[in-house]
Amino acid sequence: MNDKIVPVITIDGPSGAGKGTIAQMLALDLNWNILDSGALYRTLAYFMLEQNIGLHDFEKNKELIKENFRVKFDAGIAGEPVKVIFNDMDITKEVRTEEIAKKTSDLAADPVIRDFIKPCQRDFMKPPGLIADGRDMGTVIFKDARHKIFLTASLQERAKRRQVQLKRQGSEVNMRLLLQELEDRDKKDIERKHSPLKPATNSVIIDTSNLRPEGVIEEIKKNL
Ligand code: DC
Repeated sequence: MNDKIVPVITIDGPSGAGKGTIAQMLALDLNWNILDSGALYRTLAYFMLEQNIGLHDFEKNKELIKENFRVKFDAGIAGEPVKVIFNDMDITKEVRTEEIAKKTSDLAADPVIRDFIKPCQRDFMKPPGLIADGRDMGTVIFKDARHKIFLTASLQERAKRRQVQLKRQGSEVNMRLLLQELEDRDKKDIERKHSPLKPATNSVIIDTSNLRPEGVIEEIKKNL
């Protein structure tokens, strides 16, 4: 099956640019499937941690991981996180911890892991269509996608959004620390050798700093 039959919209961009919100809104609106590729990497990190498998043991355990790596996403309810279902268990909350985020960031930089995840991501391309959210959806994984969107926003605005999100979860965070963390993650994503974060040449770039989610959707729809 390829994109000639299944339409794909890719949504890439840095942390806090609004990818998750917009991908969810589009998936609910169009009634399409959703792939949260960041959550897929996080699930792999969660599973490896649970099984006590380190990055250096990955090859040795590849078959076991492959057999047990069954992940589904449910766009759920607007405004709530997209549900991550791993082997029939809801692990939405478990994959959002700081421990998993750190481990994921290391895993995602490794070419062996990226090769392993690639076919898993392509498997989400099922009718009637797919909204694929990540860093390299339009540049590497779904190069043939019908529509490619790259969302961006100022560092300040992205940090503010993250602060609101964390507050909602009950954590207070220092703005200066948040800015530094985001800057570091951006640098890591942009400068890494394998699948670095960059807009696909044929993508529509939208700065969401001064837009409400509805405004972003309007911009996207103008380009569909
Ligand atoms: O979007 P997120 O924070 O859930 O992503 C988790 C990590 O995975 C982050 O370090 C970036 C990385 N990632 C990636 O390298 N490629 C993707 N397509 C999606 C996420």
